[in-house]
Amino acid sequence: MSEEFKTVAVTAAKQAGHLLISNFGNLQPAQIETKTKFDFVTWIDKESESRIIDIIQHSFPEHTIYAEETRRDEHGEYRWIIDPLDGTTNYIHDVPVFSVSIALEHKRNILLGVVYDPNRQELFYAERGKGAFLNDHPIHVSSISHMDKALLATGYPFRVKHLIDEYQQSFKQLFLKSSGIRRAGSAAIDLCYIACGRYDGFWELDLKPWDLAAAFVILQEAGGTMTDFSGGNAVLSTGNTIASNGHLHSVLLNAVRDVFKGIVEQ
Ligand code: IPD
Ligand code: CA
Ligand code: CA
Repeated sequence: MSEEFKTVAVTAAKQAGHLLISNFGNLQPAQIETKTKFDFVTWIDKESESRIIDIIQHSFPEHTIYAEETRRDEHGEYRWIIDPLDGTTNYIHDVPVFSVSIALEHKRNILLGVVYDPNRQELFYAERGKGAFLNDHPIHVSSISHMDKALLATGYPFRVKHLIDEYQQSFKQLFLKSSGIRRAGSAAIDLCYIACGRYDGFWELDLKPWDLAAAFVILQEAGGTMTDFSGGNAVLSTGNTIASNGHLHSVLLNAVRDVFKGIVEQ
């Protein structure tokens, strides 16, 4: 069965990726809708989601679906968690950094995840207990244990702009300690880049289950750590995310935890 789960997840991610690439650069301003201020959606997000759901439901009609744009089913025994286009703002601006993220949850635990970057044709995959892979090659987090050698990634808190002062405090601390900080615009890619050792740490406020679920298992299977802002395991529900190669987790946690304590759900 697990081979079939993998085949379906990979097929859906690649087909969605093909759709994204074949329409890239062609969006018209009238095709961009505002969901909430600073948060956008296009027909491509919706078409990608619909194709992914069709592929999954063709093979597993009894499974439930939790997808960003159209469907929020309750937990079932098996539930698929889907971000059909992670990096919509990049996509809208013709910036070629975006991905497709598909995870399968079994009895509320993430069992497998696929993140596909169609621009680089990089497919990140993991299944619980079986390791993490990039294009079928095993991957592992970096061994960097000193912040001054670390390359971090983050996402700006555009949905909670009133928290900019607190965010800046965390940014300042980590900027001063680390060798650099990137903001590429696809959280799923950021997290997979930690899984394969390109980045060493990451933090962002208010992410959603579809941003995180697939990368969560990929990062863990690659030897990394992902927690909420208190260092606990509520990250998929709070969305307040700290991720790292493990060695640097406490430094990231220290820079973020106290700043946001009592201000956001940890
Ligand atoms: C966004 C991206 C971005 C992150 C945002 C997410 P979307 O996802 O992952 O990197 O900073 O918080 O919402 O909206 O493009 O699917
Ligand atoms: Ca997303
Ligand atoms: Ca999305």
